[in-house]
Amino acid sequence: MIEPSAAAQSQASRPVGEGGLRLPMVDVRGLKKSYRTANRELELFHGLDLEVADGELVAIVGQSGAGKSTLLHILGALDAPSAGRVYCASTNVVNLTAREAAVFRNREIGYVWQFHYLLPEFTALENVAMPLLARGAAKREALGMAANWLNEVDLEDRGDHRPGELSGGEQQRVALARALVNHPRLLLADEPTGDLDEITAGRVFDLIERLHASHGLTSIVVTHNLDLARRCARVLHLEAGRLAPLVGSA
Ligand SMILES: Nc1ncnc2c1ncn2[C@@H]1O[C@H](COP(=O)(O)OP(=O)(O)OP(=O)(O)O)[C@@H](O)[C@H]1O
Ligand SMILES: [Mg+2]
Repeated sequence: MIEPSAAAQSQASRPVGEGGLRLPMVDVRGLKKSYRTANRELELFHGLDLEVADGELVAIVGQSGAGKSTLLHILGALDAPSAGRVYCASTNVVNLTAREAAVFRNREIGYVWQFHYLLPEFTALENVAMPLLARGAAKREALGMAANWLNEVDLEDRGDHRPGELSGGEQQRVALARALVNHPRLLLADEPTGDLDEITAGRVFDLIERLHASHGLTSIVVTHNLDLARRCARVLHLEAGRLAPLVGSA
């Protein structure tokens, strides 16, 4: 038996701020991030702020090298900030131990990358079941839930295919199912359609929008595709280490 999802547990116990207002799903203040290499220091963010409310679908755009992936890595506790406050899904993600960060990611974050990173030797069904198995679910139950998720992404008839036996769009659908199988509250997608042709990219984005709405997610999508970004309620531009509303977006 799987314990109640972190989402279900934490929805009930979401902390509320002063005046009874719910805290934002993402609350970043004064974020700094520097990388030190052999001969210089690169200061990527110098006091970046970001607030994303529960249920928002936000796109982040910006030039290559602006720090979009680094920002998502910090939100997902895959990288540490140099300074600043980072609250994500009611968790202070700064200073988590490696173990705490792994549990946080498994329960609270659904992560999708440009490349699917599905495990090639496992079937689509087994790949989707992985996060459930990682949190101790029985195999039979995990495979049953994974099958439901393949159904949600319209791939119920591809469960026995290995990643190499799926199209690019299908691989990303499986990656989305795997990202969401644990019912995380926050979806972080880093150029999820970057490797797909225009029509397939549009369909994968349709699916992200559908899952975002039907599962009450908060979603942050990094994309180079301005047409897709503008389908989001809010578009932020990462430039010179700071985020600002994209000029010309709503
Ligand atoms: N571990 C690291 N050590 C040193 N520099 C790094 C490290 N990781 C990233 N960088 C640098 O930080 C900058 C931002 O990288 P990042 O991958 O976040 O950019 P991005 O906006 O996602 O770009 P793209 O659109 O090409 O994916 C780059 O200039 C990169 O070289
Ligand atoms: Mg990137």
